[in-house]
Amino acid sequence: MSDKADAPKKSQVVSGLQDIVITQQDICYIDGEKGRVIYRGYDIADLAHNATFEEVCYLLWHGDLPNQTQLDELREQLTAAMMLPSELLLILRALPTNAEPMRVLETGVAVLGMIDPEANDDAHASDMLKALRLTAQLTCITTAWHRIREGKYPILPVPEKTFAYNFLYMLFGEAPDAYAVDTLNVALILHADHELNASTFAARVTAATLSDMHSAVISAIGTLKGPLHGGANQAVMEMLEEIGTPENVEPWLEDFLAQKKKVMGFGHRVYRTKDPRAVVLEEMSEELGKRSGQTKWYEMSRRLETAFQPKVAAKGIYPNVDFYSASAYHVMGIPHDLFTPIFACSRIAGWSAHLLEQYADNRLIRPTSEYTGATDLVWKPIEERS
Ligand code: CMC
Repeated sequence: MSDKADAPKKSQVVSGLQDIVITQQDICYIDGEKGRVIYRGYDIADLAHNATFEEVCYLLWHGDLPNQTQLDELREQLTAAMMLPSELLLILRALPTNAEPMRVLETGVAVLGMIDPEANDDAHASDMLKALRLTAQLTCITTAWHRIREGKYPILPVPEKTFAYNFLYMLFGEAPDAYAVDTLNVALILHADHELNASTFAARVTAATLSDMHSAVISAIGTLKGPLHGGANQAVMEMLEEIGTPENVEPWLEDFLAQKKKVMGFGHRVYRTKDPRAVVLEEMSEELGKRSGQTKWYEMSRRLETAFQPKVAAKGIYPNVDFYSASAYHVMGIPHDLFTPIFACSRIAGWSAHLLEQYADNRLIRPTSEYTGATDLVWKPIEERS
């Protein structure tokens, strides 16, 4: 009798599901060789230069850009939804002030799911409204949490202002600098969707069981939090702080690579060239550094790219979206543990667009595995076990 696996072999294991196509979707296309990202037919570079985040939300949810009336209506709805229910505010005030903001987001969305009267209503129109509300609410939770942990009161948005303006206004409590608003608007656009990334996949897996949108978004937030995914932007900033000075980049890198560690903000499952989002964010990081007189962080990032990238070019490793967003957010005065929540505040647009699509044409997502354990063991009473 064998205690080795004698279960029948299935098809070959594909580690990390690399290159496995699990669905068709018409929301986002990535050309990893050429370094292009397309949302619903529009190049993100074009959107980043011309659109507001609100227009991109509409595009992702409805499949087309809004006309002026549609955009005005969306803006009004988003601003109206930028207010947290009192039950959630009470809970936020009861949390330990050192709670990680990504955990606070998970908690916040769970509470919203308990309060939202439409949480279990799976009608498309209701899910569309939930997508909009959650997009407004993630920003409210992030900004309100930061103020609450600092002993301040959360504040309401300014109705006629943009989403990006209101994010910074609700965070800092004062009118933000115009270039910071532009940078955040661009960052929100660039992070809004990215095909079947890990958190979107997690959201779709949850939704495919016909669980509700709030639950699927909690799965996505938990998945985004990891340092191999959205958590990398905070990790990049911690790495830059550890390096300390531009002159220390090269010696630090030599020592770091000798330890066989991964440089945060580099590499991607899909790109074999520089991430097009990093190209745009690099320009903004440089400009923000010049405007604020804090050029050190951009300079260190640039120097690290120059020193590291040629060493790993053969493996197709280049800077990703998180690399230059870190120094840009830092110079904007954003606390480092809010970098990944900002990613979530943007990616909620893409998550919800994918969820709407998943619900519209659903099938349970349930892959399989190749079992490598024993199959013929015989039960032993506890006294006979060693
Ligand atoms: N630094 C050094 N080596 C790296 C890096 C890196 N950042 N990324 C990949 N490699 C090497 C890796 O060691 C492996 O080498 P070898 O073949 O010799 O063993 C090879 O490149 C392939 O790497 P992998 O980890 O198997 O590739 P993957 O497609 O499974 O992982 C990744 C992609 C993003 C998880 C990985 O590149 C990584 O860990 N990067 C650092 C974390 C990071 O910046 N994450 C943000 C991703 S972009 C934002 C988002 O969409 O979430």
